Amino acid sequence: MKDKDLFESNRAAWNQAAVYHQRAFNHSLHIGFRDPEFTTLKKQRDSVVNEQLKKIDFSGKTISHIPCNNGRELLSLMRLGAKEGVGFDISDAAILEAEELAGIAKANVKFVRTNALEIDETYNAYFDFIYISQGSLQWFPDLNAYFSVISRLLKKDGRIIIFEIHPFKYFFENGFNFREQNFNKLTSYFEAGPNHYPKGLDYFGNVEYEAEECFWFMHQMSDVITAILHNGIEIESFEEYPFDLDGSPDPMVEGKFPFSYLIAAKKN
Ligand SMILES: C[S@@+](CC[C@H](N)C(=O)[O-])C[C@H]1O[C@@H](n2cnc3c(N)ncnc32)[C@H](O)[C@@H]1O
Repeated sequence: MKDKDLFESNRAAWNQAAVYHQRAFNHSLHIGFRDPEFTTLKKQRDSVVNEQLKKIDFSGKTISHIPCNNGRELLSLMRLGAKEGVGFDISDAAILEAEELAGIAKANVKFVRTNALEIDETYNAYFDFIYISQGSLQWFPDLNAYFSVISRLLKKDGRIIIFEIHPFKYFFENGFNFREQNFNKLTSYFEAGPNHYPKGLDYFGNVEYEAEECFWFMHQMSDVITAILHNGIEIESFEEYPFDLDGSPDPMVEGKFPFSYLIAAKKN
């Protein structure tokens, strides 16, 4: 399959998912962002990100979130004092919602619908800080291509924080069940894929639906680290945690596997 078709399929799948996500929590965001103190970075798991964010002076800074989905995380980050924000995402529906929320939050942000790999050159060396959050890297078949864009967009000494789902968690994304021990459903750590989500992408409302075909990729931890380093970005810290977006796939293994990680890094 050509990359163009792959990304266009994923665009359609994310447009479809937006309807379910909005049903699950759009209303609370509409109300929330009216309050100047509101942030979505307040869950227990976000404490590790907040610790890192505290180390950065955002005043007067230009920041981004790639991909940004409906903008809720970028709008929350803007409340740390940044001057300007730009969010990029491939989904038309997510960007429309982000623009709506930006109006409510009265933030100096712009949202751009684009494949992250095709972000316009006017954004070269534009950002002091780029955030990459859970469920982002899996949509890019080639992480070197993705991090070459991140590097291109960062100013010298610009920083990134990646707070991502650990590859270990993706082992269980293809239907492995701890009780059934159906090992044939384990995602291989060593095969990139593509993998699919035939029951859809509603990880907020947990509604299953007949989904547009989408394509996601398993990346080894070494792929992530190598792609960052190859693009002139220096890793300052790397930590792994036993929690992530959805919690543990089974109480029996709670706290025993790495399910998320955080990398703080700086462009040389
Ligand atoms: C799980 S979300 C990650 C963002 C954020 N952590 C969140 O939970 O909303 C995945 C996002 O990646 C976007 N996406 C997928 N492929 C993309 C691409 N090639 N370029 C830009 N955005 C992409 C989707 O539209 C979706 O909004």
